[in-house]
Amino acid sequence: MDVPFVDLKAQARELHDELAAAFGSVTSGAAYTMGPELADFEAAFAAFCGAAHCVGVSSGTDAVKLALLGAGVGPGDEVVVPANTFIATAEAVSHIGATPIFCDVDPHTALLDPDALAAVCGEREGMLSAVVPVHLYGQPCDMDPILAIAEEHGLAVVEDACQAHGALYGGAAASSSAIEPPASLSATEPPAAIAAPPAGAAGPPAAIAAPPAGAAGPPAAGRPCGSFGVTAAFSFYPGKNLGALGDGGAVVTSDNAVAERLRLLRNHGQAEKQVHTLVGYCDRLHNLQAAFLSIKLECLPAWNTARREAAAYYDEKLRDIPGVAPIARRATLDEPVYHLYVVRLLTGSHEEDTDTDLAERLLADELERRDRDAAELEAGFDDPGLVADEHPIAGLPGVDQRTLPDLSGRGLHDIQSRGEARDEVRERLAAAGVQSGIHYAVPLHMQPAYAHLGYRLGDFPAAERLATQILSLPIFPEITRAQQDHVVAALVDALS
Ligand SMILES: Cc1ncc(COP(=O)(O)O)c(C=O)c1O
Repeated sequence: MDVPFVDLKAQARELHDELAAAFGSVTSGAAYTMGPELADFEAAFAAFCGAAHCVGVSSGTDAVKLALLGAGVGPGDEVVVPANTFIATAEAVSHIGATPIFCDVDPHTALLDPDALAAVCGEREGMLSAVVPVHLYGQPCDMDPILAIAEEHGLAVVEDACQAHGALYGGAAASSSAIEPPASLSATEPPAAIAAPPAGAAGPPAAIAAPPAGAAGPPAAGRPCGSFGVTAAFSFYPGKNLGALGDGGAVVTSDNAVAERLRLLRNHGQAEKQVHTLVGYCDRLHNLQAAFLSIKLECLPAWNTARREAAAYYDEKLRDIPGVAPIARRATLDEPVYHLYVVRLLTGSHEEDTDTDLAERLLADELERRDRDAAELEAGFDDPGLVADEHPIAGLPGVDQRTLPDLSGRGLHDIQSRGEARDEVRERLAAAGVQSGIHYAVPLHMQPAYAHLGYRLGDFPAAERLATQILSLPIFPEITRAQQDHVVAALVDALS
């Protein structure tokens, strides 16, 4: 049996007639930008997110960029970004001339760690402008402490909700018992946060199966991701929970003035025909995509429910399998939307690692390598061709050869080689017809594109360790229980 990572064809089949009718309607009017389909979708999506305004834009990356600009972030500013996210979060910061300041993630949930954020704020007091909590995998960040820290340090909060359409945050965790114990202690124990999955796929999502101690009655409805920050960015990339038939994105906000500025920014700063009140961008969401998205938005609640049920089924099937731990769900009142279903593989050399000894070992390795590199680099300057030939931007006018970042890639190789056991598991899954993914294999501070920021291996131990352990299993609304059984069986085989 083949199990794709996502199955976009199923959705296209289900909605074919409605999408074709929308295509016919937009093309018969031949108005492709800034039309009524866009306004209709924006109104519907703003309501879905619990925000006053939605501004449709060209992609999730542009949405993060415009969300930052809308929140007043600009050139020279510093913006805190988690080390484990898709690179677009940081790229958007760079695109507006600001600098990403990376921050470690929670080792259990893989989301921005409020304690690490507080530490970064302390170290860079007065220098930071904003923080971008990323609701990664469709799981809400712990927004209560993040908002409190941001307020204390004067940071704007700009949510990256590109993977979290419809995810609900239920409030701060009632106690640490909702959090999975360290991997080194729990290779065979189910994480506490998912210790009581529903008996059947039709039950409530695992994340709300057990209310926190002291909570009375059924869990109160949570607050939607996208309603916390001054602005929030969404992606409608086709594979997202709400995907266009091409690129698309949106910024949501409840601030009228910010919304007005965003509408200008996404359309050349044009306030009225021929009048441009600021220097903007060509970042519009097209009418065709908006029309498609309106159709799909109606299906989204049911699709998210199907994803939650599929996740609960995986939780149930994986709970007794040694060496596999689903990423912990932070709090019992959250309702994630499982854009991705991510597990950690607790096999091989990582089993005995604790956060501290791994960080120390990585740091020691890296310092030794840096000394060696420095010596090699120094020697290389006798030969003017060496650096110029190796570096992609060397030789460009104005580029100082001596300040070029170290592209030896050794930190990168180290991260990659530590993930080799996981790569073998992926190969075996592929041989059994099961596609899988890694989100993400290289933490942002180890990406060559950000070498110039001077981070090094060991800086963010949780993100570095997760990068070598995480594996994303197939999940999409139409996945069948038979397909999931096949995935689990293939995983057990691959691990044996
Ligand atoms: C967390 C996150 N941020 C930003 C983006 C960028 O979105 P897009 O691909 O639509 O530009 C993505 C898309 O994968 C994402 O997952």
